[in-house]
Amino acid sequence: MKLVVTRAQAVSGEIVIPSDKSLSHRSYLLGAIANGPSRIKNPLRGEDCESTRHCLEKLGTRIEDDGTFVTVIPAKEWSQPTEPLDCGNSGTTMRLLSGLVASRPLTVTMKGDASLSRRPMKRIAKPLNEMGAIVTGETPPLTIQGGNLNGITYHSEVASAQVKSCVLLAGLRADGKTVLHEPSKSRDHTERMLTAMGAAITVNENAVEIEPSFDLQPFQMRVPGDISSAAFWMVAGALLAEQPLTLIGVNVNPTRTGILDVLSQVGVSVSHDNQREENGEPVADLVITRNGTNPFVIEGSLVPRLIDEIPVLAVLATQLSGETIVRDARELRVKETDRIGVIAAGLRSMGANIEPTDDGFIIQGPTPLRGTTIDASGDHRVGMAFAIAGLVADGETVIENADSIKTSYPNFEEHLHSIVNS
Ligand code: S3P
Repeated sequence: MKLVVTRAQAVSGEIVIPSDKSLSHRSYLLGAIANGPSRIKNPLRGEDCESTRHCLEKLGTRIEDDGTFVTVIPAKEWSQPTEPLDCGNSGTTMRLLSGLVASRPLTVTMKGDASLSRRPMKRIAKPLNEMGAIVTGETPPLTIQGGNLNGITYHSEVASAQVKSCVLLAGLRADGKTVLHEPSKSRDHTERMLTAMGAAITVNENAVEIEPSFDLQPFQMRVPGDISSAAFWMVAGALLAEQPLTLIGVNVNPTRTGILDVLSQVGVSVSHDNQREENGEPVADLVITRNGTNPFVIEGSLVPRLIDEIPVLAVLATQLSGETIVRDARELRVKETDRIGVIAAGLRSMGANIEPTDDGFIIQGPTPLRGTTIDASGDHRVGMAFAIAGLVADGETVIENADSIKTSYPNFEEHLHSIVNS
């Protein structure tokens, strides 16, 4: 699919932000191990979450869906699938599900599309093997022979919520305590949900401990909006909102709000209206107007708090006055694409002054952008970031290989048109 974007004079209006992808995955996965049915309002309908759902169904979970509410009915015992489970484009599906499969007497192979088949799985195979599972495959397909596990203390080399969640989910049924340390704090949705379900879990800064917890309470939840989807409109607003742009129902969990810290460095104020709590997660409506032109620095513990927002923040940096630096973000190289390479090549072709580095980029701004034909390389966040670049570029920007946008944001194009004043 091609996405065509033309220059916008301004943006304004209101967008109801689509449901949080990370939470939607977890609502299916944790619903499947509760001791009764759970009811979820508005999980994300993107392809990534559908992959989680289909894999769970192959393992015996029943899922009923009336279009608004999804009911997850756990199987008493998970069933042995007869063929490899297809995780599509979704690293979250493969890595989190691995943690659940590892503690069950099953042998499960998981495969993915071309992008997922290149992504590193040793980061979860290593701890799961230490716990007693037999995991093979440094990249997908991944085969897990699950069974009785022992609790371990594990120091993850990367600040990754996927690695952390995988180990914690395996620890739920291990013998003894499991402790996971990460170099800096990644998103904590798994910990919050497990706490609400009654698991014996303790969080201490960058370490999480979990005791075996077999009796997990089912839940009812409404999934709030995804700050990683809101990020595209935050940047569009920072560049072009003469009148307010309001983003309704955004999950502002502090482990996810690094982008708000960056916008504050830039000088863009984002007001939080209607603050509330939904299912243990803080939620607000965010209002953005155009202001601020300072460049920014992203490094250290800020990186995991905005890892998925870096592609669109790179677009913002091209329009700021001075040098923006992103470092300590080597993880970007092993996302759906090598995001450092793909973003740098794409923005350069639009006229940006961006130098990729080993673990980030250096961007000098401001530079006018020109519309061109640009390749999203099948990466949803890169495709959407280029669309935002297209709003400030001269002429027409044609984004090729943009199909994957529907993995996380099926109605992105409709929302884009709805805020543009041309
Ligand atoms: C996710 C965690 C992040 C993020 C991904 C979703 C999750 O990955 O990039 O889009 O739901 O746990 P890492 O934790 O591997 O950095």
